[in-house]
Amino acid sequence: MDDPEVAHTPLGREVLRNFLITVCGCAATWEPASFIERAVADIRHAVGAGRVLCALSGGVDSAVAATLVHRAVGEQLTCVFVDNGLLRRGEGDRVVDIVSRQRHIHLVHVDATDQFLHALHGVTDPEEKRRRIGSTFIRVFEEQAASLGDIDFLAQGTLYPDVIESTAHDTQNAQTIKTHHNVGGLPADLRFKLVEPLRYLFKDEVREVGLALGLPDDLVWRQPFPGPGLAIRIIGAVTRERLETLRAADWVVIDEIKRSGLYRKVWQSFAILTPISSVGVMGDGRTYANVVAVRIVESEDGMTADWARVPYDVLGVISRRIVNEVPAVNRVVYDISSKPPSTIEWE
Ligand code: XMP
Repeated sequence: MDDPEVAHTPLGREVLRNFLITVCGCAATWEPASFIERAVADIRHAVGAGRVLCALSGGVDSAVAATLVHRAVGEQLTCVFVDNGLLRRGEGDRVVDIVSRQRHIHLVHVDATDQFLHALHGVTDPEEKRRRIGSTFIRVFEEQAASLGDIDFLAQGTLYPDVIESTAHDTQNAQTIKTHHNVGGLPADLRFKLVEPLRYLFKDEVREVGLALGLPDDLVWRQPFPGPGLAIRIIGAVTRERLETLRAADWVVIDEIKRSGLYRKVWQSFAILTPISSVGVMGDGRTYANVVAVRIVESEDGMTADWARVPYDVLGVISRRIVNEVPAVNRVVYDISSKPPSTIEWE
């Protein structure tokens, strides 16, 4: 028999439930409201009169962490959102809208698109892209932090799976910052003390907390998005023009997947801009334009994944719309590879 915690094990949940509740006598009383109450009290206690900085990525974890910290210490919190220019269409504005205009959290919005594109100029190797994006993020973030004066704490949306992955968790040594997580990876020698209100939660619990805090559904249920963003979905060098092309194609994928009711059922759905041009016909003319690949996968945790058996009609609409609406694209292909052996991202 497989381990009971593995999703596909028959009756695995029941085995665990029976062990915890009947055998160990656990009460199963976890609920978002009591978590929020305790987390807010803990943050207040830890932070005192100090100032807290929180880097927002656009994803749910950092937004929930920031909202909790804000509830605890209000004006003592400053959020920094470094827009790397590699986000999906509208996502940067949405973050600013939710955090700043709706929640009135003090937010510094840095448009660092130029710096990131400059750092990525001519780079084709996927790992080199990641390294350059990581180091650019650190530089921009540190500049901002320095300009804000005395900051004592850094709030992060670290989740329990990140804690489990680190070797010496819950010790002083573990108070370093993971390198590959969403905000892009901060250096371990930052002078801040860490505030990590989500470090004992799993993703589904973070979502429940986010909803209980009144964060909007579209943010709480956002699909995972890699820190390096669209840069690792443009195969080859990243340019402004290619980013625009990918962003337009990606928008169609997300729009149609939401329209078909599949957005929350699949793990990720997105477009990739391949380095291939192909011949097509449009009207009376011959075209020679980009090939876009569409990747839609089902997964429990991103470790393994299977390509989603999306209805042909949905794929048909996605393909037609991309070719009609995105000028530089004349062909769309669907990725039918599973992980392993393929990865979810192409780079
Ligand atoms: P792969 O492509 O390795 O992706 O099958 C597994 C999951 O991780 C995400 N991913 C990343 N996330 N920084 C991130 O924050 C990265 O460099 C990165 N690379 C992959 C990917 O989107 C998928 O959910």
